[in-house]
Amino acid sequence: MTETTAPVAFPQSRTCPYHPPAAYDALRTERPLTRITLFDGREAWLVSGHATARALLADPRLSSNRDRPGFPAPTQRFAGIRNRRTALLGVDDPEHRVQRRMVVGDFTLKRAVELRPRIQQIVDERLDAMIAQGPPADLVSAFALPLPSMVICALLGVPYTDHDFFETQSRRLLRGPETADVLDARDRLETYFGELIDRKQRDAGTGLLDDLVHRQLREGDLDREGLIAMALILLVAGHETTANMISLGTFTLLQHPERLAELRADPRLLPAAVEELMRLLSIADGMLRLAVEDIEVAGTTIRKGEGVVFATSVINRDETVYPDPDTLDWSRPARHHVAFGFGIHQCLGQNLARAELEIALHSLFARLPGLRLAAPADEIPFKPGDTVQGMLELPVTW
Ligand code: HEM
Repeated sequence: MTETTAPVAFPQSRTCPYHPPAAYDALRTERPLTRITLFDGREAWLVSGHATARALLADPRLSSNRDRPGFPAPTQRFAGIRNRRTALLGVDDPEHRVQRRMVVGDFTLKRAVELRPRIQQIVDERLDAMIAQGPPADLVSAFALPLPSMVICALLGVPYTDHDFFETQSRRLLRGPETADVLDARDRLETYFGELIDRKQRDAGTGLLDDLVHRQLREGDLDREGLIAMALILLVAGHETTANMISLGTFTLLQHPERLAELRADPRLLPAAVEELMRLLSIADGMLRLAVEDIEVAGTTIRKGEGVVFATSVINRDETVYPDPDTLDWSRPARHHVAFGFGIHQCLGQNLARAELEIALHSLFARLPGLRLAAPADEIPFKPGDTVQGMLELPVTW
C-alpha cells in the first residue's frame, strides 16, 4: 500500500443517495486498507477490499466493545453514547454467543417464512391507507417506516400504539443532532422498556420480549438492564434500517425505469433484485471495531489499540468481486456482499429484512403502476453523512 495523500475524512455525505461520496474514490483506488481521519481528528484504518473485510470481520482480535478506550467514533453523536450498554452489537464472545443464542430462534429463515402472511397483511393495510389519502404521499411516513415498525412490534410484543414515541426517540438516537438529544432519547427508551418489562412480568403477553422475561429473566441469565438493552437494540435495529432500505430502494428503482420494468414483468427476479439493492445501496456504511492485538493483514500491521472502520459502500463495490460495480445489475451474483455485515455480528434480522423488502417492493409497484416521484430527484432530502443512509422524505404520486 502506498500512502501518498492526507487521510480521507470519514464519514462524508453522499451526493447521490445510492452512491458512495465522491471523496471515497480515493479509498477505492487504495484497496484493501487506507488511513482515514475521524470527526475528532483521530486516525483509523478503513477497510475497503472485499476479501480483507471478510477476513477481518471474522477475526476475534477485533473487538466490538464500545467501552474499550480508543474505540473509534465516527460522529459526536456516537461518541456521546458509546459507554452505554449495547446488547449483541457491542459485546464480544463468549458473552455475545450467549446473548445471540437467546434470540436467534426468532430470526431464522423458517420464522421469516412463517411471518410472510402477516407482513403481507401489514403491507396491504398501509397501502390501502396511503391510497385512500393520496396522491401525493410521503412514502417514508406513510409506508416505509410504519411497515418494519409494525412487524418488529408484533414480533417483540411491543404495543404499536406507542409507535410515535419510539419512532421519534429512535430517530433522535440515530441522528441527534446534539449529544444531549441522543442521551435523552436513550434514557427515555430505557425507561419505556423498563416499564414494559415490569408489566410483562405481571401479565404475560405473546412476543419475544415476553419469552425473554419468562425464560431468561426468571432464570437469571439476563438481568433487567440486560433485557432492556436487548429490547432496545432489537427495536431500533429492527425498524430504522429496513425503513431506509424500502425508501431508498424505491427511489433507486424509480431512477432506473428499465430495471423496474424488468422487475414488474417478472416478480421472480425480486430476491436477486433485493440482494443487488442491498449491495449497491449499502445503507449501514461504517461498521466499527478496535484491534485488541496486532494483526498482520494484506502486507500491513494493524496495531493493538487502533480503530478499524468497514465502509460497506466501498467494500461492496470492489471491482475484483463485482465487475462494473456502480451499475444496478441483478443478473450478477450479489451474494457475499457485506451490507448485513459478516462474522459473529452478521445481521440477526437479515431474513426478516429480506422478506419485508421483497413484499414491500413487490406490492408497492404492483398496486401503483403509475408510481413516480412528486418532486425533482435532486430536491428530495436524504440523510447526511453518518453511518446509516436513507431518505428523510420521499414525495411520490401515482
Ligand atoms: C435492510 C435492513 C437492515 C440492514 C441494512 C442491517 C444491517 C446490519 C449490519 C451491517 C449489521 C452488522 C453490524 C456490525 O457488525 O457492526 C447488523 C447487525 C444487527 N442487526 Fe441488522 N440490518 C437490517 C435489518 C435488521 C432487522 C429487521 C433487525 C431485527 C431485529 C436487525 C437486527 C440486528 C441486530 C440485533 C444486529 C446485531 C447482531 C449481533 O451483534 O449479533 N437488523 N445489521
